[in-house]
Parts: sequence; structure tokens; C-alpha cells
Amino acid sequence: MLPGMRLDGRKALVTGGASGIGAAIAERLAAEGAEVWVGDIDLMGAERVAREINGHSIELDVTSLTSANAAVAEIDDLAILVNNAGTDEFGFFPQTSPAQWQRVIDINLNGVINCTAAALPGMQQAGYGRIVNISSEAGRVGSKGSAVYSAAKAGVIGFTKVIARENGRYDVTANAIAPGPIETPLLMGAKELGEVGERLIDNMRSQTQLNRLGQPFEVAAAVAFLASDDATFITGETLGVSGGLGMV
Ligand SMILES: NC(=O)c1ccc[n+]([C@@H]2O[C@H](COP(=O)([O-])OP(=O)(O)OC[C@H]3O[C@@H](n4cnc5c(N)ncnc54)[C@H](O)[C@@H]3O)[C@@H](O)[C@H]2O)c1
Repeated sequence: MLPGMRLDGRKALVTGGASGIGAAIAERLAAEGAEVWVGDIDLMGAERVAREINGHSIELDVTSLTSANAAVAEIDDLAILVNNAGTDEFGFFPQTSPAQWQRVIDINLNGVINCTAAALPGMQQAGYGRIVNISSEAGRVGSKGSAVYSAAKAGVIGFTKVIARENGRYDVTANAIAPGPIETPLLMGAKELGEVGERLIDNMRSQTQLNRLGQPFEVAAAVAFLASDDATFITGETLGVSGGLGMV
């Protein structure tokens, strides 16, 4: 194996892989030798990323178990599932609506549950699997302007721990990553709130010990590690990739 080819021959599905952090994860896993399926509700975006990494694209709506099952069924011997698809609709809680709460929970929490449910039986049968869930520091410390998002991301951490507990005997590990503020279309979308949004972003930046926003590739490196055989004895953990924002 070439150095740096830790994922040689492994098949991976990255949800929400058409943009931001997911696109960087798809790129990094491919660079380490994985055969990558880029799954996204934005099929054109998924196709663009897949072309760049010589991978595959797949239309996937993580809020639908049927869609998750169909995507996973296309991949024989899926070894790595990265539950990355997510969204936020920034706003102070009283100004947000039940429809927004539902969307945020559906994509960020139910999406992880659906895709994990789809992928687990095959991994259990194979006796091998690596599940990496993209949570958020919002799920550990809470993020102003993101109440329901923080709740959903905390839910992802709890779910990850149980999947880790139940599946160690199949050599299936499950870990979460808690990114801090990462420069992607999602975070920059807060600017649509005008001055309040700018302040939210500045506030998050100043809470990192490095006093900067993170970049998608910095999250992707942590995903590659947890998906690789450098992390064979790590499960049920939540790894902060946040410049120290979530430090206790
Ligand atoms: N950017 C940050 O600061 C930050 C911080 C912490 C955690 N995260 C998490 O990282 C992950 C990626 O976020 P990002 O910043 O790259 O966002 P992004 O908006 O750039 O990308 C999200 C991707 O998810 C896809 N998606 C949305 N709904 C979907 C659905 N129903 N089914 C399938 N795909 C869907 C979008 O089409 C998009 O390609 C999310 O889970 C997010 O919550 C981001």
C-alpha cells in the first residue's frame, strides 16, 4: 500500500457530498484510495464532485428512508458511511417556525438515522464498517441562533454512541465529528440575516482559540482518520475539529 492510501479499495458513501465539507470529504477519501459515491439531493452538484474525483454520483434525499435504502442498495460492500448532509436556518428561536424546526430535524437528525439504518445490515453481515457522523460543536455547547439545529446535532452524538455500543461485535465503529465554524455556503448563509448574521459568524470565530474559521479540508482529514485503520480502536467518540471552540 502506498503511504497515504489508507482507504485503498474501500467503498464509501458521503451524504451531502455536493458542497462544502461533504465535497472535501469525498475528495479526501478518494485521494486515500476509496471508491466514493457522492450522494446528494443536488444531483448536478454531486455529479460535478464525482467527476472531479473519478467517483460516482447518486441522487439521495436523506430525509427519506426509501431514498437512503435505494442509494445503499447500489453499492456492494459499503464499508464507509459518512453522514454529512445537513442544513441550518439561522434565527433566534422565537423567530423560527415549526416548519423550520421540522426541516432542520429531518435533515440533520432523521437523515443520519435513515442512512445508518440503510447501511447497517450490510456492514453487520460483512463484519466491518466505519460510520462517521458530522455533528457540530453546536450539539455540545449550543450555538446562538441555532436552537433546533443544536438539539438535532446533540441527538446525532447520542445516536452515534448507541450505534457504537450495539455494533462493536460486528467490527463496525461509529464516531462523530464536531466541527466549529467552517467556511462553507451553510455558514456563510448566516450573512443573509445582515448585521446579526455577521455578528454570529464573528462571535463563533472569536470563540476558537485560533481566532479563525476552519476550512472544509480540515474536517475531511479527521473523517479520513476515523474511517481508516489508524482508528481501529476508536468508537463512540466525538472529535472536535473546531480550533478549540468546544474545549471544556
Ligand atoms: N459549516 C459549518 O460551519 C459547520 C459547522 C458544524 C457542522 N457542520 C455540518 O457539516 C455538514 C456539512 O455542512 P456544510 O457546511 O458543508 O454545508 P453545505 O450547505 O455547504 O452542504 C450541505 C450539503 O448537504 C446537501 N443536502 C441538504 N439536504 C439534503 C438532503 N435532504 N439529502 C441529501 N443531501 C442534502 C446539500 O445539497 C449540500 O450539498 C452539515 O451536517 C453541517 O451541519 C457545518
